[in-house]
Amino acid sequence: MEYEKWDEVLAPYDHAVEELKVKFKNIRKEFLTKGEYSPIEFVTGRTKKIASIISKANRLDLVDIESEMEDIAGIRIMCQFVEDIYTIVDLIKSRNDMSIVYEKDYIKNFKDSGYRSYHVIIRYPINSIAGSKEILCEIQIRTLAMNFWATIEHSLKYKYEHYIPENLAIRLRRAADAAFLLDQEMSEIREDIMKGQVMYQVKSLTVREVLNTIQDLYNVGDTHKALLYQRRLDRIDNERDITEILNLKKEIDDLLEQYKNPKKK
Ligand code: GTP
Ligand code: MG
Repeated sequence: MEYEKWDEVLAPYDHAVEELKVKFKNIRKEFLTKGEYSPIEFVTGRTKKIASIISKANRLDLVDIESEMEDIAGIRIMCQFVEDIYTIVDLIKSRNDMSIVYEKDYIKNFKDSGYRSYHVIIRYPINSIAGSKEILCEIQIRTLAMNFWATIEHSLKYKYEHYIPENLAIRLRRAADAAFLLDQEMSEIREDIMKGQVMYQVKSLTVREVLNTIQDLYNVGDTHKALLYQRRLDRIDNERDITEILNLKKEIDDLLEQYKNPKKK
């Protein structure tokens, strides 16, 4: 193919990569603007080099690259946690400006090399002065740890011209295990932090309820008890103990019950 012809063939792919990068970067921006956590950490994209397209087409005996080569346009989305990857997949599924052709979950089924990532092949419409057409694009979604491993493994593969010596391959698989453990550990830490946040919310809600019941004691005229309970709450509040706060609430509720129904004991 003439070089100018290649430019024409690749133009819609360049266009798609640029648009998709903007769209995914904007998703991150939207989350951050709302003061929320973003499942997207950063986004990269590239159009496959002509030399790579030719060698892949030859290797796989492809007749029509536009319909048979899925990764001429490529987008990579990096996240902090494995859970974020599935959030992004759902996000892609919910969009109406792109449609999923198929998915490959190399996280649940990682490759022999140790490679892990989630791949989504999409069909994406491009509008140009020549009209509109749909192109294929490969979106790779991975954690920072998965990306770290894949980047280094890729450069080693390049250095060894795709033949990685067995002893190095073994060490790379060990490094992949370490990256997997890192992701697992990070997910656990994330869960603990989220549980901590829920506990904090429950606690402040309960404290507010206890304060209301103490106010009720003042209202029924038991200033003495109200002050005592107030002091006890202050002490517990510092210790951040939810069960103690709940016990205290129960005691005050019982006392208030006696004020309401003096006969019951
Ligand atoms: P390709 O001919 O590379 O497209 O392989 P494929 O059509 O069988 O698709 P596959 O899903 O296996 O791989 C697609 C892309 O995922 C590759 O182009 C790489 O970017 C990435 N990938 C897959 N396997 C590996 C791996 O072992 N190491 C690294 N670093 N990247 C990989
Ligand atoms: Mg591929």
